[in-house]
Amino acid sequence: MPVQVPEPTKDFGAQWREEWAEAQKLKGPNMKNSSVFYRNIEEELDLNRKAGLNFPIHLPSHVSDFSTCDVLGMSHTGALREEFMKELEANPNFAMGAGGSRLLDGTTEYQHKFEKELAELMGVESALVVHSGYTANQAIFSTVPRSGDVIVYDELMHATALSGMKISLALDQRPFRHNDVDHFIEVMEAVKESTPLVKAGKRCVIVGVESYYSMDGDICPLKELIEAAKEIFPHGNAQFIVDEAHSFGVCGPEGTGFVREQGLTDEVAITMATFTKALGGAGACILSNNTIRSLLVTQAKMFICSVAPPFTLLASCRAGVRLMRSQKMEQARDYLHELTLFYLDTLTSHPVYKKAYKKGMVDMPVHEDGAWHEVPITHIVPLWTRRPKYALYLAFHLTRDGFNGCNIVFPIVPKGEERVRLFLHAHNTKDEVKGLVNSITTWIQEMLDIEASGDKNKLPAAARLAFDILEKDEQMTNGTSNATAEKTNGANKDSGSKETFSKEAVSKDIGNKNIMNGISAFKNSSLVSGLGFGEMPSRII
Ligand SMILES: Cc1ncc(COP(=O)(O)O)c(C=O)c1O
Repeated sequence: MPVQVPEPTKDFGAQWREEWAEAQKLKGPNMKNSSVFYRNIEEELDLNRKAGLNFPIHLPSHVSDFSTCDVLGMSHTGALREEFMKELEANPNFAMGAGGSRLLDGTTEYQHKFEKELAELMGVESALVVHSGYTANQAIFSTVPRSGDVIVYDELMHATALSGMKISLALDQRPFRHNDVDHFIEVMEAVKESTPLVKAGKRCVIVGVESYYSMDGDICPLKELIEAAKEIFPHGNAQFIVDEAHSFGVCGPEGTGFVREQGLTDEVAITMATFTKALGGAGACILSNNTIRSLLVTQAKMFICSVAPPFTLLASCRAGVRLMRSQKMEQARDYLHELTLFYLDTLTSHPVYKKAYKKGMVDMPVHEDGAWHEVPITHIVPLWTRRPKYALYLAFHLTRDGFNGCNIVFPIVPKGEERVRLFLHAHNTKDEVKGLVNSITTWIQEMLDIEASGDKNKLPAAARLAFDILEKDEQMTNGTSNATAEKTNGANKDSGSKETFSKEAVSKDIGNKNIMNGISAFKNSSLVSGLGFGEMPSRII
């Protein structure tokens, strides 16, 4: 007997749906008489539109935030702004711009002092503060691997690191299966056997990993990887680079991150921490010894050819670090952990979730074992939806109910691994979490009822509203082009198709691969090569 789905009290998703529908519209067919310059670009963009890869940049319309990276609420609550204002007051004569690159008079006393403070806090010789995590990863991965070195990296490494690797001097680049220590050992052994100079300890293996993986929410087995690497390469020529974008501020003593929490500072050559996530601002820092510092500032293009970060950015980073170390943020970290447990307990004990889980409709692979009270966990709690298009449907549903969760779909993640990525925050209340769980389970119930009805063409209510916009638009253009009709392929309730978007561009060209595995999937893709889509960070959303 289908359960009556309650009507939402208010629709918060109208704007988002409009923006989404607009982003799906093909532009090329209407540009026959336009400049070839713009038409070519739009036609290339149409390939992405047909493949459902044209994500709208949308203005926030949510009431409760379960998506941003501002997990400690430093930005949301205004705490960072307050701390930043103190920094401005203490330095009233600041210059707006640095005036030059680091090597060309762009290094200020303020930056110098802040970097020294940071290095001391993090227990390393050097901290280099740069504009963004993207810049930092580009600098590190393009410059640190030297000629003859080999890069070994987790297959889910962020796209910013992958694009740095692409322009590095490394002899070879080899991924290992995500968080799989056995496969890591296999790859490292293979590198040793195939690269005599590495085997002899004359060239190096540079290992790239993240501490917390932002699409999956799991944690790197860093200790095991380091131990294995040391055993395979006893000359010390296997060195680690750890991207702490999602753990800096969230764990470790005074929020200083995962590497320090694990007591591995001396075992890691480079740690990359961003101020863009838990620290609620912008910028990043590269933590290393002075040798790496010298290499980066003199050889990384981003240091040589780009003006140094301005005072305002440095001041917000410094304010963020001060805040990160405060008692208030210690409490925020504790609360975030408690809230994560509360969310996992509440969702997984819900009978509707249990039913859908048993049917293989939804799950949370990282929490499969139900051990979240016993093992370390993160605030990143994606809900995997195991049927085509369900992640999109759930995103429409959540947005309508005033929550923001991003649907992460193929080819950002492999087919069958689509999900809605959810982040918990210290500024979320338990009532908001209950509301979120209620919204999720209401949607699940709706899908269970649709599946039970056997009606393959039926769309859940919130998605219906979105696809109605597309259909209305199609009726208006009334078949003026085949391509326009194609865009509603599968979105059309009468089609019965399970594929929402044109398939050929995606599956033929890219294969069932992960966007983050840029080396194997995107590098050779004609779909994306022209647009540089392979460069696009998988965590843009
Ligand atoms: C793992 C990881 N590394 C690097 C970056 C890039 O950082 P930023 O946003 O500061 O450029 C991100 C951000 O999206 C990320 O998630």
